[in-house]
Amino acid sequence: MTNICAIVGTKCNKSNTAYFTKKLLAHLKEKLNTDININIYNLHDFKIEYCNGCLTCRKEGNCPVKDDMKFLKTEMIKSDIIVLASPVYIHNISGIMKTFLDRLCIWNHTMRLAGKKGIILTTTSSSGDIQVRNYLKNILLHMGAVSIGDFNICVDFPQELYIESKENFIIENAVSKIIEKIKNNDMTSSLIQEVIFNNLKKVINRGIENNYTKNYEIFFWENNGLVNYNSFKELTNDILQNGKELK
Ligand SMILES: Cc1cc2nc3c(=O)[nH]c(=O)nc-3n(C[C@H](O)[C@H](O)[C@H](O)COP(=O)(O)O)c2cc1C
Repeated sequence: MTNICAIVGTKCNKSNTAYFTKKLLAHLKEKLNTDININIYNLHDFKIEYCNGCLTCRKEGNCPVKDDMKFLKTEMIKSDIIVLASPVYIHNISGIMKTFLDRLCIWNHTMRLAGKKGIILTTTSSSGDIQVRNYLKNILLHMGAVSIGDFNICVDFPQELYIESKENFIIENAVSKIIEKIKNNDMTSSLIQEVIFNNLKKVINRGIENNYTKNYEIFFWENNGLVNYNSFKELTNDILQNGKELK
């Protein structure tokens, strides 16, 4: 069973991004023809507070802000493929998506999504999608997931939007690219992740040498034996092939 968790970052009730996320994943399920469980979470349905900058997550591993983040984080961790979908607002991700990502800050230090695959979807009316897709892709990489596709759907011509044949063409194209990546087990993104992994490992080892133990990041790296891996690839192989679980 492949679990897909999609996070849609918009407050719009008739959201283009939600619409295309649903369509893309339904088509992916149909084409992959395997047992797939899809959960799509629209952030406007959840209570998500701003990060208050206390850094308790990095020091103690938990967040003192009580809202729906705990549920969404658990859902992401349970999944094999993570989809981050955001509209482009003023050449950036939406505010609600940024608030959500801020709250995942600790995962940038623990590569918590190692072994998972990531898909990025943006929607725009005209411009700004390249930097937004690159931004989201980069965040996923830092969190450990490997990108298997990033797509933008331009909704500049509303008369063309929601026309079945045009939509199907765009979606089919995106899905065939994703399937190609999955079938080829394409891990090209992991080159940059080797650099990220090694840099983090150096920082953690320095912390260990200096007996700086009151830090959740060090605890996570030691507890999961991450410091013993020679490369990020070695870690992801252990997760994917031997079922190693990060805790
Ligand atoms: C506040 C706001 C800012 C936007 N900024 C941009 C932009 O910088 N570039 C662009 O091409 N489209 C921009 N758009 C258009 C949206 O990206 C587009 O309509 C998108 O599909 C909306 O997705 P949603 O319905 O899921 O919220 C903006 C729309 C809004 C509401």
